[in-house]
Amino acid sequence: MELIEVIKRRRSIRAYEDKKIEREKLARVLDAGRLAPSARNLQDWKFIVVKSLEMRTRIAHACKSEDFVREAPVIIAACGTNPDYIMTCGQKAYPIDVSIALTHMMLRAEDLGLGTCWLGAFNEKKVKELLAVPAKVRIVALLTLGYSRYHPPSKSRKSLDEVVCYDRWK
Ligand SMILES: Cc1cc2nc3c(=O)[nH]c(=O)nc-3n(C[C@H](O)[C@H](O)[C@H](O)COP(=O)(O)O)c2cc1C
Repeated sequence: MELIEVIKRRRSIRAYEDKKIEREKLARVLDAGRLAPSARNLQDWKFIVVKSLEMRTRIAHACKSEDFVREAPVIIAACGTNPDYIMTCGQKAYPIDVSIALTHMMLRAEDLGLGTCWLGAFNEKKVKELLAVPAKVRIVALLTLGYSRYHPPSKSRKSLDEVVCYDRWK
């Protein structure tokens, strides 16, 4: 698929088939994340791939939307391993770096016929405990991954005019 087609087709998927993801496909999704850019190319990230139903169920309990999180055959816990690094612009690098990597994965997944949903509504403390994540490391997001049961309609977006201005703030 053309990149723009992948971008246009992607949706947040909240219903998954009871079907495993092929090992090779999963590796391709993860590799797209590995190849993402990061501040100073530090790549201070770790992606915990959760497949077991028992652990998915436990993680789902720590999320607001339990059902589809448990249903997805894979949950990726995307971690920033260096939360202290602040860029010259004053922004913390880790949530940005990890988000770019996850976006790569989401688009690659779509390209391979898989669906994803980004999750911010989870209890980080509980998920860290479940996955034995070191105290210093932050979980930026959870990503569900699997074969979609249906393709939801697209959601509206603001127009370019609303979100873009030229030469100065307007
Ligand atoms: C930072 C972030 C956090 C999100 N958190 C959740 C979440 O906790 N639960 C959920 O169901 N969807 C979550 N989403 C998905 C958004 O609701 C979704 O991307 C948005 O409604 C647009 O729909 P679309 O992805 O289908 O285009 C999140 C997305 C982002 C980027």
